[in-house]
Amino acid sequence: MGVGKKSMEGQIEEESQQLVEVFALEKGQPFDPALPITNSISNVICAISFGYRFPLEDKTFKELIDAVTFTSKFGGSFFYVLYEMFPWLMKHLPAPHNEAFHATKMLLSLAKEEIQKHKEQMSFQEPRDFIDFYLLEIEKRKNDPTSTYDEENMAQDIHDLFFAGTETTATSLKWAVLLLANHPDIQDKAYKEIEDVLCSSFFSYQDLKKLPYTNAVLHEIQRFKYPFLFGFPRQTAKDVKMRGFLIPKGTAIIPNMRSVLLDPKHWESPKEFNPNHFLDQDGHFVAKEQFLAFGAGARACLGEQLARMEFFIFVVNLLRAFRFQLPPGVKELNEEPEAGLSTPPHPYKVCAVPRCSSS
Ligand code: HEM
Repeated sequence: MGVGKKSMEGQIEEESQQLVEVFALEKGQPFDPALPITNSISNVICAISFGYRFPLEDKTFKELIDAVTFTSKFGGSFFYVLYEMFPWLMKHLPAPHNEAFHATKMLLSLAKEEIQKHKEQMSFQEPRDFIDFYLLEIEKRKNDPTSTYDEENMAQDIHDLFFAGTETTATSLKWAVLLLANHPDIQDKAYKEIEDVLCSSFFSYQDLKKLPYTNAVLHEIQRFKYPFLFGFPRQTAKDVKMRGFLIPKGTAIIPNMRSVLLDPKHWESPKEFNPNHFLDQDGHFVAKEQFLAFGAGARACLGEQLARMEFFIFVVNLLRAFRFQLPPGVKELNEEPEAGLSTPPHPYKVCAVPRCSSS
């Protein structure tokens, strides 16, 4: 299906416009943008997986958002660590892990219901979404006894897309709004570039190449505020020799991405939000090998292209519609992340002042 293909741009554009409308309802007054952002990013995954988006007031959608949010928070909690260490004991105790299992079950059964509906509609003959493409693949391989394509795996894949593709991108977008409000000079410069370069209201992901400063700002947000505590755990498939150390086959490896993303050898001011990290002296965008927010190698982020597209389209549409400002009396929003497996900002309020009324 190609996560991040051009065909997904329309869905992302639609979702970002919905988010602009939700922000506009606040009429420039202080509000917490976290839930509307999570709703919109989850709806992108719904559109990709199921072929449609949910209305925000839909009961199932609310349950889905609660499930994704709860599990992401639980993953960074003390009870999660306890469960990992003593699963045999924890199974007998009433603790939040039961709620996490409930959330996982909810998402798997929603995926299975959708698979059933797609099968009844036979829509895979003209595939439009992940389920259709997967059903088509099952059909093509039905005589292959080694095939791993089956409905259980498909439901689990949909579950994984929600967990890997919602909290990550939503966290980056929450940081984007916070950092733009805290750094109005950077926000205004990016806005001016966008307005000077994108004359009409229509733009595509390809336009990113014409916006070096905005591109640098987007990269800097993801460098400065990496959305996880550490990289994904992996295991060595064979003995590895590295810098004189032997790492035996089967060793668990937990990469510390911040050791690269905040390395003073590679970044002029690693602990500051500074888009110049990605610009040369003439203001051209410079791609850096050390930008490892999406990991590296064969198991790097599967959704990187989608995430980059989403991040660009959402931020540009939001910036064109609003100037993000601190609420009256607030000098600065807290730039320390919440502790957990994912590292979103602490809850905050911001003013999204409509551009037409502010100018
Ligand atoms: C800002 C957004 C995102 C960031 C920063 C991010 C980051 C990462 C990182 C660091 C990894 C581990 C890579 C490694 O071990 O080298 C990863 C894996 C993964 N990501 Fe993302 N991700 C983002 C968005 C997404 C989206 C939107 C999707 C899907 C819709 C997605 C799906 C996945 C999957 C399935 C994996 C596991 C790949 C594997 O194990 O082979 N991610 N991501």
